[in-house]
Amino acid sequence: MAQGEPMQVKLKIRRFNPETDKKRWWGHYQAEVEPTDRVLDALHYVKWHVDGTLAFRRSCAHGICGSDAMLINGRNQLACKVLIKEVGRKITVEPLLGLPVIKDLVVDMEPFFEQYRAVKPYLVNDDPPPATERRQSIEERERFDDTTKCILCAACTTSCPSFWARSDYLGPAAIVQAHRFIFDSRDQASQERLQILAESNGVWRCRNIYNCTEACPREIQVTQAVAEVKREMMRRRV
Ligand code: SF4
Ligand code: FES
Repeated sequence: MAQGEPMQVKLKIRRFNPETDKKRWWGHYQAEVEPTDRVLDALHYVKWHVDGTLAFRRSCAHGICGSDAMLINGRNQLACKVLIKEVGRKITVEPLLGLPVIKDLVVDMEPFFEQYRAVKPYLVNDDPPPATERRQSIEERERFDDTTKCILCAACTTSCPSFWARSDYLGPAAIVQAHRFIFDSRDQASQERLQILAESNGVWRCRNIYNCTEACPREIQVTQAVAEVKREMMRRRV
């Protein structure tokens, strides 16, 4: 693949329109792109030049908003971060697994966000606000630095066999969000979060499969974060 030269790629895209289709089907398309284009550019090509009915989510196109996670050649990835030269001339694109499909590559994210909200993903501190900021040492801030990077793309949760097997499992993304606050020295709801995560749909459903860590586009050590939450739970005897 010569850099900067236009090339043809073949896309096989899982399609489904609930208004007209009884079941899902494969759409086959050609797109003209360059090796340094992203898979998102190839999807745009199809939508803008071949079939305007193709539905997919995207917003920032720079790996920040987390809206275009999808199954690309069998791996959960952000379409805006995967280069054509990394995936080759034959590209298969499917919606994330384990969430209901609304249309084509668009899944219903509401069950995912419900699990996210369940772990109280915000700072809880009922002390009167100090005159200045609530201060932390560099080490205290460092303790949860990795999990602040989450963009809620759902690539981790929807690549997890434990989630596929039981959709009420809170899943790695919610645990990452809980970790971010459990280890924040300013927060006062850690015990409550750990109790939520100790339920049968919580951290103990994690079997250390590591799909989540491999899928995370932010390179968060997801499985490690889950293990740290488990250890904290045992340390506090929750
Ligand atoms: Fe996405 Fe990574 Fe956050 Fe999971 S932990 S939702 S893969 S950014
Ligand atoms: Fe925002 Fe890809 S479009 S992360």
